[in-house]
Amino acid sequence: MAVNTKIALVTGGSRGLGKNMAIAIAKKGLDVIITYNSKKDEADAVVKEIESLGQKAASLQLNVGDSNTFDGFFEGISSTLKSTFNTNKFDFLVNNAGIGIHNSFIGTTEAEFDQLTNIQFKGPFFLTQKALNVMNDGGGIVNISTGLARFSFPGYSAYASMKGAIETLTKYQAKELGERKIRANVVAPGAIETDFGGGTVRDNEQLNKHIASITALGRVGLPDDIGGVVAFLCTEDARWVNAQRIEASGGMNL
Ligand SMILES: NC(=O)c1ccc[n+]([C@@H]2O[C@H](COP(=O)([O-])OP(=O)(O)OC[C@H]3O[C@@H](n4cnc5c(N)ncnc54)[C@H](OP(=O)(O)O)[C@@H]3O)[C@@H](O)[C@H]2O)c1
Repeated sequence: MAVNTKIALVTGGSRGLGKNMAIAIAKKGLDVIITYNSKKDEADAVVKEIESLGQKAASLQLNVGDSNTFDGFFEGISSTLKSTFNTNKFDFLVNNAGIGIHNSFIGTTEAEFDQLTNIQFKGPFFLTQKALNVMNDGGGIVNISTGLARFSFPGYSAYASMKGAIETLTKYQAKELGERKIRANVVAPGAIETDFGGGTVRDNEQLNKHIASITALGRVGLPDDIGGVVAFLCTEDARWVNAQRIEASGGMNL
């Protein structure tokens, strides 16, 4: 009997962690839709890479910070599901897209706070709410948080608070969506070398060394340290993992 190939939607799949997650998910045998905000070329390259692994893939533009665009986005998702995947629903949503703004608690402006809220919390909240209309029962949600929601590191009070909110939301999603057999979990990466926050973890040697020194495994993280953890949550092997926060930080600030 033919088994339907599951489909995952990864927001912010054009670069960094989202790209790594999308490819790791494809390696598990799922088809993947990724979104990008501005870098279509990079998204197209990820789609090609996934196709070369033998899975179907597509990319759509999405600004997760503008919930007014979500209805139009899901119209695009529905037509893409039909045209590229020959179906009308997908199975897993990975809320990964995001930005970081580094500022002290004292220095954080309302504009920065609002931007972070829209992209890191309000966006994933309402995107997931609307996604449920086109998600199969029995799938899952993976919300991406950060180690910074467990420990404090000066300069991230607003950003980390939004991620803390996502962690709380995840428990409510798991509880309320259990009746549809939809699981909701959090993956919380430590500091990872990507373009995030201007690429500071990767490019600032002093910071890189400092983070390595407060990490049990003695280095900062790489995208490859994260994608497989998210991919696992999108498989049948994770069917009994629900409402959990899985930190992948190499043991930062223990
Ligand atoms: N890197 C870290 O140290 C770290 C640690 C913990 C958690 N995280 C979290 O992991 C997630 C991914 O971070 P990353 O390191 O991969 O960052 P990244 O390399 O800067 O990539 C960000 C991704 O998000 C997309 N994006 C940015 N703003 C967006 C918006 N307004 N609407 C929709 N998409 C948007 C980008 O699309 P374009 O390519 O089109 O710009 C890109 O695909 C974020 O939620 C971040 O908070 C990162």
